[in-house]
Amino acid sequence: MKILAIETSCDDTSSSVVENGNKVLSNVISSQISVHAKYNGVVPELASREHIKNVNIVVEQALKQANISFETFDKEIDYITCTYGPGLAGSLLVGVMTAKTLSYIYKKPLIPINHIEGHIFSAAIENKDLKPPFLAVVISGGHTELVIIKDYGKYKFLGGTRDDACGEAFDKAAKILGLPYPGGPIIDKFAEKGNNDSVHFTRPMMKGTWDFSFSGIKTAVLNYSKKVDIKNQQTINDICASFRQAIAETVVTKSVEAAKKFNLEKIALGGGVSCNSLIRDMFKQQCKKNKIKVFLPSPVFCTDNAAMIAHVAYHKVLKKKYVYPNKSVVSIKPSLELENWK
Ligand code: KG4
Ligand code: ZN
Repeated sequence: MKILAIETSCDDTSSSVVENGNKVLSNVISSQISVHAKYNGVVPELASREHIKNVNIVVEQALKQANISFETFDKEIDYITCTYGPGLAGSLLVGVMTAKTLSYIYKKPLIPINHIEGHIFSAAIENKDLKPPFLAVVISGGHTELVIIKDYGKYKFLGGTRDDACGEAFDKAAKILGLPYPGGPIIDKFAEKGNNDSVHFTRPMMKGTWDFSFSGIKTAVLNYSKKVDIKNQQTINDICASFRQAIAETVVTKSVEAAKKFNLEKIALGGGVSCNSLIRDMFKQQCKKNKIKVFLPSPVFCTDNAAMIAHVAYHKVLKKKYVYPNKSVVSIKPSLELENWK
C-alpha cells in the first residue's frame, strides 16, 4: 500500500511517498529557514505564502523520486494524507487544500493526521521493533509532551509544558545571545566547545507532576547575559553548554522517571529537539542504566517531515479509522490536541 503525504503545519513544506508504513520511497522537505531567519522566528503570513509557492513542486518531486508520474498516480497511490493540525492556520490550509484537490482529482481516500502523532511515531518508521506500549517524548518547537502510547490511536497524556516548548526555549535563548533562528542547532554546536558547569541554571523538575516549565531557564539566560560580555565567543559557548545541560537533564530525568513509574520498557523520542546531541547521548546512557530501550529517529525524521504523517496514516488505514468518502468535512484544526481514535 502506497500513501502520498503532505505536511505543511509550520515552516517546512514536505511531501513523501511511503509504502506499507515503513518503506520511505521519498521524503522531500523544503525549508523556509532563510525566509524567517531575519525575523528571529516564523512569520505566519510569510510561511503560508512560501507553502503556496513550494507545495506543488515538493509534491511533484516526492512522486518523481518514488518513480510515480501523474499518469501512473491512479495505479500507484492508494491513499492521500495530510497534517490537519495543530499548527499555523494559513500553513495548514495550504497542505490540506492541496491534499483535498489531489484526492478529488484521483478519487483517492483522504486521511487527516494529527502532527503530534507524526512526531510520536517517527522513530517507528526506521525501526519495526518500536511497537506499543512505550513512552513517547515529543520535544519540538511547538510541543513538549510525555505520552503513554498504549497502541496506535490509544494514548494517555501525562504532562506537557506550562509555558515555553522545549525547542522554543532553545530558540529564545539563542535570540538573547544574538544567535540566528532556529536556535537549537547552533546552541548544540557552540555547547560542544563550552563548559557545562560554568553557569548554574536550575533544573525545573516540577515535582509531583509530569509537566515541564522552561521559561525560568530562558529568563536566567537573559539575566546572566546582561552581566557578562556576550561578544566573547567562549562566554557564549559556556552559556550554551550550561543551558543545554540544564534542559537535557530535566527532559531525560523526567522521561526516565515516567517510564519507570508506568513500567514502560521503551522510550521513543520525536520532534526537532530530539536532534540534540547531548539529549540523545544522555537518553542512551540513562536508558541503558535503567534497562529501558530507547528509540531515536534519524535527524531527518526528528524535524517536521511528511514521511511520519504517512506512517501514522498507514496504521489508521489498518485500523479502519480514516475519513472516506466524506472528505469534504476534512478541514484544518490549528489547536488540535492529541485525541484517541474513535
Ligand atoms: O519538530 P520541529 O521541526 O518543528 C515543530 O514541530 O516545532 O522542531 C523545530 C525545533 C526548533 O525549535 C529548533 O530550534 C529545534 O527543533 N531543534 C533543536 C536542534 N535541532 C532542531 N533543538 C536543540 N538541539 C538541536 N540540535
Ligand atoms: Zn513538528
